[in-house]
Amino acid sequence: MMPNPVNADEVGRSARSSVMNFLNEIAQHFPDAISFASGRPAERFFRPEDWAPAEAQFYADYAKANGLSAHSARHRLAQYGATAGIVREEIAMQLRIDYRVPSSAERLVVTVGCQEAMALCILALCDKPNSALLVRNPTYIGATGVADAARIRLAAVEPAADETLDDALARRIDELAREGISPGAFYLIPDFDNPTGEVIDRENRERILDRCARHRIVVLEDNPYGMFRFEGESVPSMSELDRYGCVIHLGTFSKTLFPSVRVGSATFPESLFGDAKAAIALRDDIVERKSFLTVNTSQHCQALVGGLLRHYGGSLAGHVQEPTRFYRENRDAAVRALTYGLQGYEDRVSWNRPDGGFFLSVRLPFEFDDDALHLCATRHSVLVMPMRYFTIDDSRRDTVRIAFSNLDPERIEEGLLRFCDFAVDRMRSVSA
Ligand SMILES: Cc1ncc(COP(=O)(O)O)c(C=O)c1O
Repeated sequence: MMPNPVNADEVGRSARSSVMNFLNEIAQHFPDAISFASGRPAERFFRPEDWAPAEAQFYADYAKANGLSAHSARHRLAQYGATAGIVREEIAMQLRIDYRVPSSAERLVVTVGCQEAMALCILALCDKPNSALLVRNPTYIGATGVADAARIRLAAVEPAADETLDDALARRIDELAREGISPGAFYLIPDFDNPTGEVIDRENRERILDRCARHRIVVLEDNPYGMFRFEGESVPSMSELDRYGCVIHLGTFSKTLFPSVRVGSATFPESLFGDAKAAIALRDDIVERKSFLTVNTSQHCQALVGGLLRHYGGSLAGHVQEPTRFYRENRDAAVRALTYGLQGYEDRVSWNRPDGGFFLSVRLPFEFDDDALHLCATRHSVLVMPMRYFTIDDSRRDTVRIAFSNLDPERIEEGLLRFCDFAVDRMRSVSA
């Protein structure tokens, strides 16, 4: 069956914001519950012992390059700074090495986390009255939240059972065209998607690029989890595959370094749909918008990121090895607990085993509503995230997202066995 076309109307918007409040309240009321709700990176891999020396080295290098004393360099960088950022070379190099994104200092803008990069791009690309932002359904709430706040129409790209993602994209573009709507951008998390954990295969990436180029739709490729691959071959990034100049890569150090550093990036194509001037104009527009939004990304935080990138030799591949092993053990613990706890119910409950990232999803044979969330918290002391919170039409009511990044394997097993107890109780009571 074809999914219904869905829009972000007032009802959808307020449902999304009220469910998030509900979840925050639940988390506050049950601080001792084992929580799979938030995809935070594991703090044990933050390396505060590296921060001061790396930053000091950055200041020393900056002083030398600019003929300043280390003291004056600190003063200068404590000032307001260039809106596009001061560590563009360093970040562009890391993107080239670690993600094979063809980035360069000229094409990159340093932002306050990925969130700012995403917001600036969505606002710039979907600013016409007949614009829309294409998103997968479900998708990351940071992107839909920006569109909601700016009253930008959201359009779901949701494959029916017999469709590929690209088929669904084609269908959606046609439907929108009949309404006079022309989407400005397609927001995607191709590697270890939040919330589903899925990866888009190479064929679909290429077909999506062909189609977006044909319709002059910019692909916003968000990739916070791509470096956390547990097994299997990595798929080339959409930026690497892009032959048309239709991808903007959104980067972040929140998961590879630590979130409070609040540094991210946007890398623009060399030419936008074959037009080099248009690519520069778009980048300049984003820089101008940023100058009125956050003025510049904290130079203090940029110095820290720049220093750490040099300290780790330009790439974070070595730095993420240990956390990646840990997240893999967590994924294994989660799958083990689900397999054990749901024995005998495999025909009614299903889950995925992602090859990387922070999330997996579990599909239940009943609706996981607010009562279920409450019951899980009160009776089983466990919190999971209803998938409908990530949808733009309040669908996927039978699915939950499990974030396995910020607990250790023992807690994951304990928590998910409790979740399985809840699910089994519910299934028994329904069939009784
Ligand atoms: C898909 C996705 N994009 C962006 C972000 C936010 O990144 P940042 O902390 O750099 O703003 C997150 C954080 O959870 C995320 O899951």
